[in-house]
Amino acid sequence: MNPRYASTQALFQALTLPLLQAPMAGTATPELAAAVSNAGALGGLGLGASAPVAAHAAILRTQALTARPFQVNLFCHAAPARDAEVESRWIERARPLFETFGSTPPPALEEIYRPFQLDPAMLEVLLETRPAVISFHFGLPTAAQIEALRGAGCLLLATATSLEEGRRIAASGLDAIIAQGWSAGGHRGIFDPEGDDERLSTEALTRRLVAEFDLPIIAAGGLMDGVDIARALSWGASAAQLGTAFIGCPESAADPAYRERLAAGGKTVMTRAISGRPARCLENGFTNWARDAQADEIPAYPCAYDLGKALNAAAKASGDGTYGAQWAGTGADRARALPAAALVETLAAEWRRASSA
Ligand SMILES: Cc1cc2nc3c(=O)[nH]c(=O)nc-3n(C[C@H](O)[C@H](O)[C@H](O)COP(=O)(O)O)c2cc1C
Repeated sequence: MNPRYASTQALFQALTLPLLQAPMAGTATPELAAAVSNAGALGGLGLGASAPVAAHAAILRTQALTARPFQVNLFCHAAPARDAEVESRWIERARPLFETFGSTPPPALEEIYRPFQLDPAMLEVLLETRPAVISFHFGLPTAAQIEALRGAGCLLLATATSLEEGRRIAASGLDAIIAQGWSAGGHRGIFDPEGDDERLSTEALTRRLVAEFDLPIIAAGGLMDGVDIARALSWGASAAQLGTAFIGCPESAADPAYRERLAAGGKTVMTRAISGRPARCLENGFTNWARDAQADEIPAYPCAYDLGKALNAAAKASGDGTYGAQWAGTGADRARALPAAALVETLAAEWRRASSA
C-alpha cells in the first residue's frame, strides 16, 4: 500500500464516522468546524478568499475551540486574465439593476483575493499554525509549497472533477483526492474553467478515481444524509465530504436570506456569473438576472465576484436578500437546520444503520 494512503486512512479511522464537513469559504466558521470536529467528524475552514491575517485568526480560533484535527482549504486558481473591455461592459450591464436598489456599481473591478501559489504570507500562516489537513481547490500549489507543508506534517488533499485532474493531483504527491461531482454545491473545483467538462456525477467520478489511484478518494456532491455516506463508501470512497448539509447549522455564517432560500429548497443552477467561475447556486434573483449571460461576457474570476458581492450588498441594503451567492448542491431539498453536533450525531446514526443493513 502507498504509505501516503496509510496516513490518510489513519486520520479517517480516528474519526467517529468517515465524514468531512466541506471547507466553505464565507459560510464555514471556526465555531462550525470545531463543533464538527468535536462531534467526531472532520470540520473544515474555507480560507481561499481570506487575507493571511484573517486566515491566521480563523485557524487560531478553531484551534482554541477544538484539540481535534480539522481541514483548512485554499484556492489555487490561475491568476485572472483581465480584460478591461469585458469588465466595463459587465459593470454597465449591471448598472440598471444597481439603480433599482438606489445604488451604483463599482467604478472598476478588483482582484479581491490572490491564488495561494502567489501568496507567501499565507504559506507562512500555514507553516506556523500547522493544521492537520490542508486542501486545495481549482488547482495545485507549487512543488515548493507542497514540500514545505509536507515537511510541517500536514496531510494534503485536492479537489478533482475529472480523471485527468486526479492524475495531476496524484503526480504531485498529495495524500488524497476529493472527487467533486457535478451535483456539488459551491464552486466547481475544475482546474481550467475554459476547458472541456465531462460533468461526471459524484458516483461516476468516485468510481473512476478509486479504480485508477492507490490513494484515498473522498466523494463530494449531493450527499446529504448517512445513507448517502454509506452509498459513497460502497463506490469505494474512503470518506464523504458534505457541504450543503451544514449550511443550515446555526454555527454557519449563512445570513437569514440564505437560510430562508435553502429552507425553501427547489432548483439549483450552475452559473459563472456571480464570481467568474462555474458554481452551483440556489436559483435566485442573481441567477435569474444572469441567466442569458454568455461565458465571454463575464469577467475573470475572482474579479466578477467583486461586482457580485457589491450587487448583493446593494440589494440587501434595500431589503432584497435574493442576490447573494447562495451556493448549494442538488440535494438542497434535503438540508436540515440542526446544530452541528446534532447533525453529525444524526448522520452517524443513519450511516451506522445503513452500513449494517
Ligand atoms: C456554501 C459552499 C461553499 C463552498 N466553498 C468551498 C471552498 O471554499 N473550498 C472548497 O474546496 N469547496 C467549497 N465548496 C464545495 C465543497 O467542498 C463540496 O465540494 C460540496 O459542498 C459538495 O457538495 P454538496 O454541497 O452537495 O454537499 C463549497 C460548497 C458550498 C455549498
